[in-house]
Amino acid sequence: MRLRDALAAARRRFEAASIDDADLEAEVLLRHTLAPPPEREISRAYLLSHLDDPIEPAAATRFEAFISRRLAREPTAYITGHREFYGLDFEVTPAVLIPRPETEILVETAIEYARAAHPEALQGRTEGPSTRPLTIADIGTGSGCIAVALAVSLPEVRLQAVDISPGAIEVARRNARRHGVEGRIEFYQGDLLSRLTDAPDLVVANLPYVNTSGWAALPAELRDHEPQLALEAGKDGLDLIRRLLQQARERLGPASAILLEVAYDQAEAVVDLVRVSFPAANVEVRRDLAGHERVVGIKSIGKKH
Ligand SMILES: C[S@@+](CC[C@H](N)C(=O)[O-])C[C@H]1O[C@@H](n2cnc3c(N)ncnc32)[C@H](O)[C@@H]1O
Repeated sequence: MRLRDALAAARRRFEAASIDDADLEAEVLLRHTLAPPPEREISRAYLLSHLDDPIEPAAATRFEAFISRRLAREPTAYITGHREFYGLDFEVTPAVLIPRPETEILVETAIEYARAAHPEALQGRTEGPSTRPLTIADIGTGSGCIAVALAVSLPEVRLQAVDISPGAIEVARRNARRHGVEGRIEFYQGDLLSRLTDAPDLVVANLPYVNTSGWAALPAELRDHEPQLALEAGKDGLDLIRRLLQQARERLGPASAILLEVAYDQAEAVVDLVRVSFPAANVEVRRDLAGHERVVGIKSIGKKH
């Protein structure tokens, strides 16, 4: 059988199983099948120029195993073991959420905020009162995609990356090493801000925000394969965000800022929670590329009351 025929057969099976983007999914899995380890996949251009080559029996067996896993609704990123985020390649395992494109707006907002609010810290100046490096905490780091993208984009910044899941911390550490930023990220396994001894200047968090009934209705790819700990957050989906804001009141200074990723329909409720915790704060909401209100930003939380 030629690669072209193997690809077409996989695509037809995915279409019959109502798997979205059947074409792309079949292609990615074939490119992964044909990659010599430690490569994760051959390039698209290489595949397209070799479509008339025969598929070797060992590769056909591997491809069939990957197709079966995908038909069982395992996400492609867990099968290939990686996903791109913010232009960087991240290892993913079932211990972590697969990074989502909408989270890139959180990274962009954090970079803008850091550059606007702390220009001197980012220019590496060594004199004056604000000479300590800017510190950003990524709470619920998962694969580490946010912390690593920030560390790569902001070379003067130090990061703290926290997750309650030890398995996630291991993956995040490996991703930091892979991108050469492990020396600037401290990892903590623990609950939200509770393990941080130094108050960060900025907290970024993409915490679980799916409500309990929404969890039951999620597609099988998410519900049966991605960690429930990474997605579900109680009856109204706000349990973690509510607790983070409570801890922030105790642990952050008045000049600290917080950026929260929220579900497409949660921004208003989160802004209400923020107003209760931080009545003096300057709050803004930013939309993602699909036009959904996605990031709630609290630019300096203000005096405690
Ligand atoms: C929605 S995922 C986000 C992962 C990653 N930051 C991203 O954007 O792809 C939420 C993460 O929060 C972690 N988490 C859940 N409860 C937590 C808690 N109480 N304290 C710290 N992390 C928690 C989960 O283990 C998961 O890795």
